[in-house]
Amino acid sequence: MSEQWVQFVYLASAALFVLSLKWMGQVKTSRRGNWAGTLAMVLAVVGTLAGFDVKGWTWIALAIALGSLIGAPMAIFMPMTAVPQRTALSHAFGGLAAGLVGTAEYYSNAPHIGTFTMGALSTEILLGYLTFTGSLMAFGKLQEILPTRPIVYPGRNLVSLAVLGTAVLLAVYLTIEPGATSLVPILMAAALAFGVLLLLPIGGADMPTVIAILNSYAGLSSAAMGFVMNNKLLIIAGALDGSSGLILSILMCKAMNRSFTNVLFAGVGTVQAGAGAGTSPTGRSVQGYTVEDAATVFDGARLVIVAPGYGMAVAQAQHAVKELSNVLSARGTDVKFAIHPVAGRMPGHMNVLLAEADVPYDQLWEMERVNPLFPEAEVAIVVGANDVTNPAARTKADSPLYGMPILDVDKARTVIFIKRSMNPGFAGIDNELFYLDKTMMVFGDAKKVITGLAAALKQG
Ligand code: TAP
Repeated sequence: MSEQWVQFVYLASAALFVLSLKWMGQVKTSRRGNWAGTLAMVLAVVGTLAGFDVKGWTWIALAIALGSLIGAPMAIFMPMTAVPQRTALSHAFGGLAAGLVGTAEYYSNAPHIGTFTMGALSTEILLGYLTFTGSLMAFGKLQEILPTRPIVYPGRNLVSLAVLGTAVLLAVYLTIEPGATSLVPILMAAALAFGVLLLLPIGGADMPTVIAILNSYAGLSSAAMGFVMNNKLLIIAGALDGSSGLILSILMCKAMNRSFTNVLFAGVGTVQAGAGAGTSPTGRSVQGYTVEDAATVFDGARLVIVAPGYGMAVAQAQHAVKELSNVLSARGTDVKFAIHPVAGRMPGHMNVLLAEADVPYDQLWEMERVNPLFPEAEVAIVVGANDVTNPAARTKADSPLYGMPILDVDKARTVIFIKRSMNPGFAGIDNELFYLDKTMMVFGDAKKVITGLAAALKQG
């Protein structure tokens, strides 16, 4: 393929990457976005293979076969609920690839490397390897191969900063002195170690935010690789990856009303355990209602709003929730789903689960749009959500949730709260909503309770 054609293919690929991100920003166009991203990647690979004087086709065929052997089963067999750890694993491979290409480029050309290229190479090696171990740690924590609790020890931030400082100093020194070949393995080791140290004190539930940050490191590492290899598409795709990862992590932090430093360094995630059904961590108790009790409040309801959360994912209750929505709709009730931006444990978690259960997109209402409707709703059903409904976020300045926008479920006439116990959610704090007169706590696994509720309503 002529150089001109390669550039044309790259341009098409870059445009598709941009469109893909744009389309993925909306539920309705997200599938198109996914296809655009896939096509962009195929064009990028084809353009690169066709445009360059490839010497080792056997190696390339082997790499494609190996990548497909790992990637295809991951895509086919990993359940929707495992998407965060699947993403972490992909970032680990991306980081490793960038780190290895950087190392190979360095040893093929050292010491005859210009200052700019060496700066980009050092950045690529540093970010690539730290993304590799950091993402592997995130995968291990989310898959519960490693302890999900934050592992904290005195002076941990100092140790992490010392290792990062060493890595940065080595990268700077190598940029000035590219001939110092013996320092590269030390830079690699420091970057690998920092990836592990960075992730140790972070709790499993904060992993999605950290994965987005690691995503941006992997992107920046690829952009640096683009400068090293003089490949414009890598620079564009890396920059898109880097900036979108950063924006996503900022959005998540904002939606949780937390700062970056709080997520990375505060060791959040050591939750208080409650005493089980009926008793909260603060020792208060409430009366539990039966499914049959709960079924009585739907008579004549015009609007019911379902607020799903992490517990719906744990219980895999999305299909049962869809069935309940069908039963209510058949009785003439308007059913809406209230989607909080950080409900669950990953961006779009609730959207993905509800889409899997074929809940139509127009029934999914984002927080800002649905909140004004709660006062009109006869019933709000909270399905395994907790923090995203906690009114402490509005009123308690000392609460870890303070300032986080929440779903105004407490403004509905009746609130049916489905969870297994009085245990707190991710933030580890009690929820005043449990104790309101209008709240009916129905204790049990979300799938079981919702299935029972749908059956009771069908009979009634
Ligand atoms: P949480 O506040 O974590 O509450 C989930 C509730 O689900 C728990 O209280 C739990 O109570 C219940 N539950 C668990 N398994 C259940 C089951 N099988 N059946 C019924 N209930 C079950 O979840 P949320 O309201 O979705 O809030 C999300 C939290 O995660 C927020 O604090 C958010 O800041 C944080 N976070 C989110 C993200 C993203 S991007 N989504 C990223 C990082 C952190 P029981 O144990 O009593 O059943």
